[in-house]
Amino acid sequence: MAPVDPHSYTDSAHPLTKHVALVLSLDFDRKTITGTATFTLERPHSGEIFLDTRELIIDRAWDSSKKELNYFLEPADKIKGSLLGVVLEDECQAIHARSIFPCQDTPLARIKYSADVEIPAQLASVMSAAYIGRVPASTESRVIDRFVMEQPIPPYLFALAVGDITFEEVGPRTRIYAEPSEVKAAAYEFANTESTIKQAEALFGPYDWERFDMLVMPPSFPYGGMENPRMVFLTPTIIVGDRSGVEVVAHELAHSWTGNLISNATANDFWLNEGFTTYAERRIIEAQDGLERVTLHIGLGWQGLDEENERFKDQAEFTKLKQNLEGVDPDEVYSKVPYEKGSIFLRHLEQKFGRPRFDEFLKKYIQTFRFQSIDTETFLVFLRQQLPEVDQVVDLQTWIYAPGIPNDAVRPEIGVLQKVLSLADGFTAGVRLQKADIVRWDPLEYIVYLERLPKRMKVEEVAELESQFHFSESNNWEIKVALLTIAAYSAYEPLFPAIEKALHVVGRMKYLKPLYQGLLESSKVGNVLAKRVYKEAKDKYHPIAQFAVECLIHKFP
Ligand code: BES
Ligand code: ZN
Repeated sequence: MAPVDPHSYTDSAHPLTKHVALVLSLDFDRKTITGTATFTLERPHSGEIFLDTRELIIDRAWDSSKKELNYFLEPADKIKGSLLGVVLEDECQAIHARSIFPCQDTPLARIKYSADVEIPAQLASVMSAAYIGRVPASTESRVIDRFVMEQPIPPYLFALAVGDITFEEVGPRTRIYAEPSEVKAAAYEFANTESTIKQAEALFGPYDWERFDMLVMPPSFPYGGMENPRMVFLTPTIIVGDRSGVEVVAHELAHSWTGNLISNATANDFWLNEGFTTYAERRIIEAQDGLERVTLHIGLGWQGLDEENERFKDQAEFTKLKQNLEGVDPDEVYSKVPYEKGSIFLRHLEQKFGRPRFDEFLKKYIQTFRFQSIDTETFLVFLRQQLPEVDQVVDLQTWIYAPGIPNDAVRPEIGVLQKVLSLADGFTAGVRLQKADIVRWDPLEYIVYLERLPKRMKVEEVAELESQFHFSESNNWEIKVALLTIAAYSAYEPLFPAIEKALHVVGRMKYLKPLYQGLLESSKVGNVLAKRVYKEAKDKYHPIAQFAVECLIHKFP
């Protein structure tokens, strides 16, 4: 008996779940979900089975013959939540649960599911599953939406959203779901999704999930996107009319192969999800927009990685590809390291073996491990099998298990990127953007430029930058937040109201974190402002984002 995953109570001696049937009822007034979860295990089992729960109220447990089962709920661990132990007495297993839903919450357990979701009749629901249809509920004002997911997925890909949701068709397998006021703009933004899917299929093999629909979430959504199979969730911050959010779509789409078909075994192997996906995302972008464009993305990625290595300079563990997160909350050390270092590593392999051979490797990798959850060591065995000279050309030990950036990693060099970076690097010495520099710039060039500037400047310099371009008023959130972050770190008070406003309307952590950190660090006034705004805006943030901001406030009392 041993845990299989540092973030789950799932035990190696227990059978894994194969299927869960959910019957859920949503009460918007009480903000509760009640229901049952019926489990089918991979083999008969008697005795205890451990499930993960967080803040659930368990009403009772019974088996398939409706016989009541004994169970116990242990006190909550801060990271893992409460262990629910259910004592099974014969071969068939079923568990009754209140709320969504106890499970073996480790990606090692791949489950199929069905769900009957009871909601108010005027609303609509979507899930990471196939929609079967709508049937009446026992009260006239309510309905039941039915879903089934017949492909086994790790529990983290279970997703449900309910709201005033409508949709527009943008392709043969793609609808954009959003609130009515936003659906037109969103459909415009993602009009080219089908061609992106075709591009990805050419690179990685057939798309296996039938539909690729996307849901635009409320502004409190803490991520840019989440790769829920068949129904990607997206932040509304990318609906700005310049189609610059396609990077997020390419990323979540790429997860359909790397992450959803092949999943990381545990959070220790998170780079297998995010590093592969970042690499794949950029292959899609390269095919669509060319080498120059993708090099800007890669340059931006390096910039982010450098900053994370600085952030973790005293916690080298979190700058490795394979990490040990025993006793560590993954949300607390979430960073770009698995994304960017993973992607740099895969590009490195690609450069060593040549694109044709590496592409063949990639396709074979996906083919071999589809619908499995694997660890880094399994990947390494396969890599050495397929590319037997790998140990002569790449120091795998260093790349995978050592902290920081290996010496032989190659930074991208290409005219446009170099030009933008050198303009930014000259800023402190007085170099300013001239009309001729920026005639052909897209949002991406401005983002690379702003991200490269020093975060702390003289207030006159911030004033100058802002008065020339009014970046703080940009529709593009990347540009706006990059400038506001500089203003925050530089304690440039004329922009504090703009920062405050941004912190009230957005809940995406990518923006909250640098803005709060900048304010907290910059000055007494900034620090006080950050804490006041957090108090006022907190209820609008997702609990994961609240946790992230509270971690920062803790660091800068
Ligand atoms: N799977 C992640 C989001 C995530 C990470 C959710 C960790 C929960 C825990 C998603 O695919 C992602 O990486 N999103 C990025 C998109 C970006 C890299 C284009 C994001 O949210 O910023
Ligand atoms: Zn991702």
